[in-house]
Amino acid sequence: MSPIVLGIETSCDETSVGVVGPDLEILGHVILSQDVHEVYGGVVPELAARQHLAHLDRVVDRALDEAGIGLGEVDAIAATAGPGLVGALLVGFGWARSAALALGRPLVPVHHMEAHLFAPSLEDPDAEPPFVALLVSGGHTLLMHVPEWGRYTLLGETRDDAAGEAFDKVAKLLGLPYPGGRPLSDLARSGDPAAFDFPRPMLRGTAAPGTADWYDMSFSGLKTAVLLAVREAEADGTFEARRADLAASFQAAVVDLLVAKTMRAVDETGCPRVLLGGGVSANRPLQEAMRTALGPEGRLFRSSPRLAMDNGAMVARAGRFRLDCGEVAAPDATARPDLPF
Ligand code: KG4
Ligand code: ZN
Repeated sequence: MSPIVLGIETSCDETSVGVVGPDLEILGHVILSQDVHEVYGGVVPELAARQHLAHLDRVVDRALDEAGIGLGEVDAIAATAGPGLVGALLVGFGWARSAALALGRPLVPVHHMEAHLFAPSLEDPDAEPPFVALLVSGGHTLLMHVPEWGRYTLLGETRDDAAGEAFDKVAKLLGLPYPGGRPLSDLARSGDPAAFDFPRPMLRGTAAPGTADWYDMSFSGLKTAVLLAVREAEADGTFEARRADLAASFQAAVVDLLVAKTMRAVDETGCPRVLLGGGVSANRPLQEAMRTALGPEGRLFRSSPRLAMDNGAMVARAGRFRLDCGEVAAPDATARPDLPF
């Protein structure tokens, strides 16, 4: 069977639906980014769930219109089952479960992080395992080895803030809007990345091969170091003049950390193919530093910004993989905020 798969993504603050066709082509794709959270400087879980509930029907209709098909022509319905915000997940997964039941179509639960791994393959047929994956967004920071689809070895993760969260918090300190990754990166372009010698936590010191520190990451110490530097600059009246330097120096520390940890994984797995996923993968200095570290023999896979963020097309694509493996949900399946890999 060459199915058409509908993918529903509601794990955080994007209400998104993708339709992926028999040859893995995107037939329809709509992403509605909730802007109600902006004034709070972060995602408010209950508001996220209510927004999904208010808009999901319309987003499904628009994606199907774009694909030029009706809901009845969909062969399987995939939905993010976790990890994510529980209320938000339940809206999308509950919708998918009801639709699958009403239409008599299989329901395919999708792991959100597996969906991120599949995103680049929607645009680049070479973006296939084996690869080392670095998934960096507002909610997650994971380093993985993927020898083949369906086999995932978690190498390291963040001990505290996610990489995107660190960007957002430091952007706030610098008076930039939420989400702050992109504005911070823009501001950093006119700054000196060596102006402040910010720490690269867990890069040296106790980190030794075989210890948990070897691949794990931490961003809270770096964030505190920026906070102290901001306070100092405010006290001596140089804050405005040094904002760009602060942004550039912070960004350089994050990029150093992410590239160093990823290259450790490349060296130890002997796999010079890296896949970057999640919102932070849109960061230009990160892409450039990773490419330089990999050298001419290495490969770097990433998505266009639309597929790097949370989206329904990647859920449909990962759902197709699970469907092909014969994995469909039991009738009592539900979403799980802490869904393990
Ligand atoms: O994957 P995503 O759209 O949503 C989730 O968090 O799941 O990622 C959003 C995150 C935000 O923290 C945002 O600040 C960050 O990605 N981001 C960036 C850039 N563009 C988005 N961080 C650094 N540089 C960027 N260019
Ligand atoms: Zn995500």
